[in-house]
Amino acid sequence: MNYNIAVIKGDGIGPEIVSEAMLVLEKIGEKFGHTFKFQEVLAGGCSIDANGIPLTDETIEICKNADSVLLGAVGGPKWDNVPSAKRPEKALLGLRAALGLFANIRPAMMYKALADACPIKKEIIGDGFDIVVCRELTGDVYFGNHYRKESDCGWGEMGCDDMNYSVYEVERIARRAFEMARVRSKKVTSVDKANVLETSRVWRETVTRIAAEYPDVELQHMYVDNAAMQLVHSPGQFDVLLTGNLFGDILSDEASMITGSIGMLPSASIGETGRGMYEPIHGSAPDIAGKGIANPIATILSCAMMLRYSFGLSAEADAIEQAVGKALDNGCRTADIASPGQTALSTSEMGQVIRDLI
Ligand code: NAI
Ligand code: MG
Repeated sequence: MNYNIAVIKGDGIGPEIVSEAMLVLEKIGEKFGHTFKFQEVLAGGCSIDANGIPLTDETIEICKNADSVLLGAVGGPKWDNVPSAKRPEKALLGLRAALGLFANIRPAMMYKALADACPIKKEIIGDGFDIVVCRELTGDVYFGNHYRKESDCGWGEMGCDDMNYSVYEVERIARRAFEMARVRSKKVTSVDKANVLETSRVWRETVTRIAAEYPDVELQHMYVDNAAMQLVHSPGQFDVLLTGNLFGDILSDEASMITGSIGMLPSASIGETGRGMYEPIHGSAPDIAGKGIANPIATILSCAMMLRYSFGLSAEADAIEQAVGKALDNGCRTADIASPGQTALSTSEMGQVIRDLI
């Protein structure tokens, strides 16, 4: 089969890690008889430099016509003083909206070979950590009205961000979470702040109603403050964590740190159609950009998610994930996951090791 992939290398380490991931896809293509055609487009800071804006209509069109989108990362200190409406991150929000991507799927799993990097005590983490955060992406406070006004009580200017959730938005993300739980350990923990927020009360009622369609999946509700605490207190109780946009932003970063390295974790943003956007969870790492030392694994594993979720190629996805697992078992490490004194591989050396193992 032929697959068209729009590629946004982006800023900072983006080009270095995405190049390795593209070579991994080519290797999969050779082994399994697929052709991956890449079309590179600009978004984020590099698009600001070239076009004056972070996301052009041309980039949106190409991404819409592609079978999927592979993204490195966008942003960096160079664009910190750009007015907020034109910042590099606006490209991500714009693409998610244009492509109708409402579900952000972030697996956080700890590799046994990297157990020493886990900041949580062995007695607590037990034999491992393997959860998926299913975060809603198109609603919540990020997409409400943002404005300022004079406070009524003379306390000066006031910033306001409206938080909204509609039943429809909650239903579709809840179904994604329950479907995912069906092929895992059949438990969903839905996170909200229903003791305080009206949006959360709509969230909780809706999730409870949708749960009835999935009687084989256990549903637990948890307040977000408790969830933040439980993630480090007894992480083993979670499997699929279903959250809104804001709480998911925070909890998915917390969950990822439990695994020990931000350079290891992939993510998928998916919608109603098969098309998705796949990217590492980390940012553009400006502190190490251009040095050839970034860990390409998160981006490579994002390609595995693309193969599985958008193209239905599970064996191919497994081949990538197994090669990554073997590379780690063989002691291959980039600098971010190396133990003190251990020699670290460069970005391209790690990519090559993984391709050889495929
Ligand atoms: P970051 O994730 O870029 O970096 C945090 C730390 O992790 C840094 O020390 C970095 O060197 C390290 N790191 C990240 N990825 C790594 C990798 N693959 N290999 C080895 N080390 C890695 O987060 P930070 O510093 O908060 O943000 C930097 C820029 O990236 C900002 O402009 C931010 O807005 C942007 N960003 C973009 C995202 C995206 O495009 N989706 C997501 C998060 C941040
Ligand atoms: Mg975040």
